[in-house]
Amino acid sequence: MDFSNFHLFIGRFHPLFVHLPIGFIFFGIILEIVGKLKIFQPDHKSIELSYIVGAASAIISCLLGYLLAYDNNDYNYEAISFHQWFGIITTVLIIGMFFLKKYNIQKMYDFSLLVIVFTISITGHYGGNLTHGSTYLTQYAPLKLNDTEIVISPPNSANEVIMYEHIIQPILQQKCISCHNTEKKKGELSLSNKADILKGGKTKNLIVQGESNHSEIIQRILLPHGDENIMPPEGKTPLTDKEIELLIGWIDIGHGSFDTLITDIPLTEELMTYCNTKLGFISNHNSIALTDYDTSIVQDLRNKGFQIREIDKNAFDVSYPKLSNIDLISALLPIKDNIIWLDLKAQNIQRPDELQQFSELRKLNLSKNPIGDDGVNIFKMMKKLETINLHSTLISSHGIKELKDNSSIKTIYSWNTKL
Ligand code: HEC
Repeated sequence: MDFSNFHLFIGRFHPLFVHLPIGFIFFGIILEIVGKLKIFQPDHKSIELSYIVGAASAIISCLLGYLLAYDNNDYNYEAISFHQWFGIITTVLIIGMFFLKKYNIQKMYDFSLLVIVFTISITGHYGGNLTHGSTYLTQYAPLKLNDTEIVISPPNSANEVIMYEHIIQPILQQKCISCHNTEKKKGELSLSNKADILKGGKTKNLIVQGESNHSEIIQRILLPHGDENIMPPEGKTPLTDKEIELLIGWIDIGHGSFDTLITDIPLTEELMTYCNTKLGFISNHNSIALTDYDTSIVQDLRNKGFQIREIDKNAFDVSYPKLSNIDLISALLPIKDNIIWLDLKAQNIQRPDELQQFSELRKLNLSKNPIGDDGVNIFKMMKKLETINLHSTLISSHGIKELKDNSSIKTIYSWNTKL
């Protein structure tokens, strides 16, 4: 038998057990209220009894809570100390209420009823935050005041990729943030944002500029398998070799700077390809040779609401994020030879005939448009088109069959059509 974590085994009954004192205390209060409302007259002793049992179970809850939190740095210190102190105050209050009731000290007793409802709510609130995170209670509230979801805007071109923002932070988000965020700071460390990273954790050398071997973050990651301090801990998805190399490169060559562009860091070809693929840029630079474009036209289109990313030299990924009131396809004709990905989802397009002139197009999204079979035969001629998304259109098997005549098309999305 292994008793080394016995305190945790017992302690984990705390969240379950705390409902007992809450129940008994409220039962006493309810008896008190029905008595005051003259619904029926509970006797003194029953109310006292509910307070005695409430007090006893509150004391046990405190002890269990102590066992749970003792030696456990899973929790945010501030939240836990509030929870702990309000729990203790509630326990003392309930004991006090028993005596106030017993000796009929009416005014103070009435007042203590109000106070205890308040302290139980606060204790419960902080306790809930500890187990569910501080947004648990308000997550589904009908009206939310501030939504703190962080949206990292995608870079417009491969030359604008910021090492920290676009490469490093997503790695941390995926592999570390569940335990190191602003709410739950294991090892007193949050990796959520620049300020928290600069602050570091318990040990102060989280990132030593230019010296990854002295940086706690890298030391932790490189610990041998089975070491109890390895990050992420055993059982969680470890970092891949490439992710580790990128972190090291960022600290050693990029000096752990938060604004360095990826182009300023001489990454190996392999890592560069990896990053470009992750960000959706084309990495094989020899495959596309497109003509130059007029930057003022592109700027003009951006002003009109088009999102245009240069994913390779002279090669654009274009989308229009909201429903347009202009003829999108005609508007794009001046740069038709530079568009390789085009997303015209849900734009009320019936006849995309002009798309035929977009001879460089590889990926096309026309989902949720009222396009029928007569609208698709034009794609038979587009010799570079590889992927076409026609989900939720009016296309039938007849139209799909025609598309299949074009041997360059490898993927057709046709979910929710007339097939
Ligand atoms: C499952 C939860 C969990 C995940 C995921 C996790 N950590 Fe940790 N981390 C901890 C705990 C618990 C501690 C504190 C105990 C310790 O120091 O080992 C800690 C401590 C640390 C520390 C030491 C902080 C200090 O200053 O003492 C660093 C650095 C660290 N983690 C980095 C990371 C990185 C980087 C990742 C992602 C690759 C990561 N952690 C993922 C749980 C986690």
